[in-house]
Amino acid sequence: MFTGKGGVGKTTLAAATALYFSLRGPTLLVSTDPTGSLGQIFGRNLQEREQEIYPGLSVLELTREKVLALWREKFADDIYTVVSSLFPVGREIIDYIEGAPGIETEFMLDYLLTALKRGDYRYLIWDTAPTASILNLLKVQLLFYAHLSQAQRLYLRLKGLFQGADPLSLIKQWQTLTAEIIHMLKTDTAAWVVAHPEQLPVREALSLSQALDDFGLEVKGIILNKVLDAEVCPDCLFLEEKRKYQQFWLETLCKETTYPVKVIPEIVGDLHNPEVLLSLAQMFLTEGT
Ligand SMILES: Nc1ncnc2c1ncn2[C@@H]1O[C@H](COP(=O)(O)OP(=O)(O)OP(=O)(O)O)[C@@H](O)[C@H]1O
Ligand SMILES: [Mg+2]
Repeated sequence: MFTGKGGVGKTTLAAATALYFSLRGPTLLVSTDPTGSLGQIFGRNLQEREQEIYPGLSVLELTREKVLALWREKFADDIYTVVSSLFPVGREIIDYIEGAPGIETEFMLDYLLTALKRGDYRYLIWDTAPTASILNLLKVQLLFYAHLSQAQRLYLRLKGLFQGADPLSLIKQWQTLTAEIIHMLKTDTAAWVVAHPEQLPVREALSLSQALDDFGLEVKGIILNKVLDAEVCPDCLFLEEKRKYQQFWLETLCKETTYPVKVIPEIVGDLHNPEVLLSLAQMFLTEGT
């Protein structure tokens, strides 16, 4: 997964990585950012379904609508049976429940989990929304899991009230799903944290990599993206000062983290060109990564 502050290059580097891996085996690139820009990078609408845009590379931008449609398909009937056995409600209760915090997040992750289990792809590259939502996403998993354990106890106390419906099986299904998602994040996922060579993104990358580590998610390293090359405009005072400032934050980052730090220069050129994207990936990925 690629994570980090807004606008630091997550999507660009996720696309570059996906292209790199697609040369080594079937690869799926998925964005769970509701305002994702993979479609712009690859110049087409990628929101409908997984589309093979280059040999070996399929891409999908998950939208809220798509995720909630999957949720309905999987759980709406069961939920309606359970809730309507308690209260006199119509099916519009489903619209109400799907707005609950965590549902959308849970089913975005369910999509990744299902893709992983299907085994059609050798590599799954995940482009995420900026930091706050990824931390929220991790927290929701743990909260959801704890909540479902309480829900089971509550159900056992109210057992007699559910006429014929079986909420326990629903709770258990959700609990299994959450446990599998937590497992996927802890054992099958590795994160690249992306930052710009400036104070706030570097500080955020440091705390984000710590938070991922606390959760138990492997951090591959921190990518400092858009670093000015030494030879850029030697006579330009502004760029020279900017470069010194960036070097200071590069050194600070290296001092304060134990993770590998990879530097990617600021590129002038068409970042939508696959050759250019591949050259970016080669700057931080090595064989066996
Ligand atoms: N190494 C680079 N050199 C020059 N421009 C870059 C580089 N990396 C990314 N960019 C440009 O920076 C902008 C932001 O990149 P990108 O959309 O990948 O960031 P993001 O972290 O995914 O943003 P968001 O948080 O909005 O999803 C884009 O215009 C992209 O083309
Ligand atoms: Mg992005």
